[in-house]
Amino acid sequence: MALGRLLHGDPQYDTDGTAIGHGRGYELFTTIAFGGRRDRAFTRLAALSGARPGDRVLDVGCGTGYLTRRMAAAVAPNGTALGIDPSTQVVDHARHLATGLAGCTFERGIAEGLAAPDASFDVVVSSLMIHHLPAEARSQALAEMYRVCRPGGRLLVADFRPPSSRIGRHLVGAAAGPAMEHNPIGQLTALVRDAGFTDLAVGDLRPWLRHVTAVRPAARQDPA
Ligand SMILES: C[S@@+](CC[C@H](N)C(=O)[O-])C[C@H]1O[C@@H](n2cnc3c(N)ncnc32)[C@H](O)[C@@H]1O
Repeated sequence: MALGRLLHGDPQYDTDGTAIGHGRGYELFTTIAFGGRRDRAFTRLAALSGARPGDRVLDVGCGTGYLTRRMAAAVAPNGTALGIDPSTQVVDHARHLATGLAGCTFERGIAEGLAAPDASFDVVVSSLMIHHLPAEARSQALAEMYRVCRPGGRLLVADFRPPSSRIGRHLVGAAAGPAMEHNPIGQLTALVRDAGFTDLAVGDLRPWLRHVTAVRPAARQDPA
C-alpha cells in the first residue's frame, strides 16, 4: 500500500489492508513523521482542549486513538472519551490499543453526519482529520462538531501544517500525498468561526501541527 493511500484511504473508507496492518502502518508512519515528538505534541493538545475530569469528550476522525487515549486520561476517573472513525480497520486497532483503559471507547462514524445527539459532549477534538475531507464537506463537519458540543463546551481542532519551504512540501507530497503537500491550513480558523464557535485561539506545535481552540457560546448564537 502506498504511503499516500495509507494516509488518505479510499472513498469507501474501508481500505484494502487488514485491520491490524492498516493501524500498525499508520502508527509506524506517524511515529517516524513526528520524530520522537508525538507524545509531547498530543499530550499538549489534550491539555489545550481544556478537558477536565468528568468531561464527556468526542474525538472525530480518531484513527488509532492516539489523541482519544490522552483525552481519556485527561477526563479520568469519571469522564469518557469516544473516538469515531469511518475505517473499520483503524477502529478495531484503536479498541485493541485502548484495552483496559477505562472510559475510552470507539465507534464507526463520519464527521459530516455524527450519530450523537445535540449538545452531548463537553469537549470535541479532532486531529489530522480535516485535510482528509473534500473541501465541500469541511463546513458540514464543523457544523456537526458545533451541534454535538454543549453550549459553553470547547473545541480543539488540529491539522497538518506543511513545511514552509518548497522542497520540504515536495518531500511531504512525495511521501504522503498532495492532500498534505497543499493542505490549506490557513482556512482552519474561518471554518471554526463560520460554524459558530467563538473565543478562537490559534497556535503551532512542532513539528507539524497547527491547532485552533474555541468555545461554543453558552447563549444560543447559531450561525446565520
Ligand atoms: C491522518 S488520520 C488522523 C488520525 C488521528 N486523529 C491522529 O491524529 O492520529 C485521519 C483519520 O481521519 C479519518 N477520516 C477520513 N475521512 C473521515 C470522515 N469523513 N469522517 C471522520 N473521519 C474521517 C481517517 O479514517 C483517518 O483515520
